[in-house]
Amino acid sequence: MVARIRSYYLVYFISAFAAITGLLFGYDTGVISGAILFIRKDFHLTSMMTGVTVSAVLMGAFLGSAISGKMTDEIGRRKALVIVSVIFVIGTLMTAAAPSDLILIIGRAILGMAIGIGSFTAPLYLAEIAPPNIRGFLVSLNQLAITLGIILAYIIDYIFAANGDWRWMLGFGVLPAVILFVGTYFLPESPRWMVFKGMLLEAEENLKNIRATEDVTREMTEIKQSIQEKRGTWRMLFSKRLRPIMYISLGLAFFQQVTGINTIIYYAPTILQQAGFSEATTAILATLAIGIFNVVFTVIALPLIDRWGRRPLLLMGLAGMFISLAAQSIAFYFPELTYLRWLTVGSMIFYIACFAMSLGPIMWLVISEIFPLQIRGVGISVAISCCWAFNMLVAMTLLTLIDAVGISGTFWIYAILCVLGVLFVYFLVPETKGCTLEQIEKNLRAGKAPRQLGITLGKKNLLPELPSMGPEIEGVVVE
Ligand code: BGC
Repeated sequence: MVARIRSYYLVYFISAFAAITGLLFGYDTGVISGAILFIRKDFHLTSMMTGVTVSAVLMGAFLGSAISGKMTDEIGRRKALVIVSVIFVIGTLMTAAAPSDLILIIGRAILGMAIGIGSFTAPLYLAEIAPPNIRGFLVSLNQLAITLGIILAYIIDYIFAANGDWRWMLGFGVLPAVILFVGTYFLPESPRWMVFKGMLLEAEENLKNIRATEDVTREMTEIKQSIQEKRGTWRMLFSKRLRPIMYISLGLAFFQQVTGINTIIYYAPTILQQAGFSEATTAILATLAIGIFNVVFTVIALPLIDRWGRRPLLLMGLAGMFISLAAQSIAFYFPELTYLRWLTVGSMIFYIACFAMSLGPIMWLVISEIFPLQIRGVGISVAISCCWAFNMLVAMTLLTLIDAVGISGTFWIYAILCVLGVLFVYFLVPETKGCTLEQIEKNLRAGKAPRQLGITLGKKNLLPELPSMGPEIEGVVVE
């Protein structure tokens, strides 16, 4: 019992440190919303350059997550986190001290690289060290950290806004980056990655330390069984057998972004002003409230993800997001009815609560669970870079969409995408609650349908002989 408590304590501790990456993700994506008002004036930025400054992070994150699969497979999850923290420090200092808009944009793109690599490595690392019964909780700590980072950014923006000191707004991010750097020194390497690299003895030692028990034979056997001699390649991702996994992960990344979350995270004050809250401070305060609800509902979701499961939360969340987007659409359709602005605020809060309890944490979680170990690095990296690409797509098309079909019409489009999201989850997304990563992999090899991938066999069948991976996987060329 004592060992069990110690082991959980240790895993929580390790996870909390790794999740600082998420905090920096939230901070650096959120901080620009306030800082840009002053940067624009100082550097006399045109609208186009303003857009470039804001979205340089998204571009960097896209590139960072695209290279991170190969990188973490080569150098390991822990070293990747060390590199992430160093890039965060460099990028933050560069942006805070930027003498020109060009250096600022380069610094933001560098920060984006760190966010991209971190958004890939942290959930992967957390999924790999977590015991299955609390994996949902631990991986979702990363999402909680993202929401905390966003709130921290709003607060810091608010504090420094009085003097318009954008350099301090951006520079504050160096503090968590240094804490992450120091923390990575204490993080153990992922035992699953070590097995993958053939370091069996070290992996077993690490696993014993993390689990605080000598009895890790079963877990080690499962991990070893899931490793094939051949390394995963890009081509393999599109093999017939792995295609369902690609559909699930790309679909989740797509629906997480195209249902409009960042129109609220990045543009809430603007939307609220359009809804009739003309005072900037009121709009900013309401934005802060939205940020707080984002944190609170992520906290509520954390234990439920492992108790209720991923699918019910996703389905309920998407249904709720649909209702609130439809309500916002109606409110914007009748601008003359000023009392409807309260409907806008209420439905924005309801929307953020539904997102925080579903697609927010669960997208990261499921994509870190469903890829076979052999292809996990490269698979998650493709899914996450697509997520950043979808994020950019929404950020870039928002204003054009509003021009074309109005705010009301734009919200309708996001609402319809929520309906498609419900169908997608219902028919394709597996329930992975309580299932080991190795069991998911076995189900995949056994050719189970996407929705069945999380099914756990009876206890005595838990470690059956592995059937062959099939020609599509075994015949793959090794890079
Ligand atoms: C999404 C971000 C979003 C954040 C809001 C994350 O899961 O990937 O795009 O800004 O949640 O909490």
